[in-house]
Amino acid sequence: MKRPLVYYGNPLLRKKSVKVEKINDEIKTLVKDMIETMDANNGVGLAAIQVGEPWRVIVIRPEIENESGKIMLGEPEVYINPVLSNPSSETNIFSEGCLSIPGIHREVERPKSIHVEAMDLEGNKISEDFEGFKAVEIMHENDHLNGVLFVDRLSKENRKKIEPYLKEIKKKYNK
Ligand code: CO
Repeated sequence: MKRPLVYYGNPLLRKKSVKVEKINDEIKTLVKDMIETMDANNGVGLAAIQVGEPWRVIVIRPEIENESGKIMLGEPEVYINPVLSNPSSETNIFSEGCLSIPGIHREVERPKSIHVEAMDLEGNKISEDFEGFKAVEIMHENDHLNGVLFVDRLSKENRKKIEPYLKEIKKKYNK
């Protein structure tokens, strides 16, 4: 079931999410609903807090290359209690957006690669190095678990430029 999104200006987006102790039916339903909500909104990633749930749970659809070299979206992936480490000193700049901040896309600089430890929905351990857009996705969503938004990572000057748009979103989506 698709769930309503939480938008910029809602204090929930500034909360630190809590660790999942047990992958029970509540978490399984949450993950299913998060994937439906992400897809229904044409997103490529979602954190649980974006549907108002305080758990450290992320879903993403990674970009994959098919046999003919075409870039497309892969099957949804689930990361529970992700821990990111070993960011590369080399950085990349990608244009980012966020389902909780509709209509705003800005370039954000982040480490080019990062190591991710997490659990999947079956409780299996994930230990993987991410790079390219997938690294961006996991870092963007992991930020949500810590109450951080991509607009926080813009330069002071660029943040100031979008402040009026952020104010509009805050008013429009938090009635
Ligand atoms: Co986001």
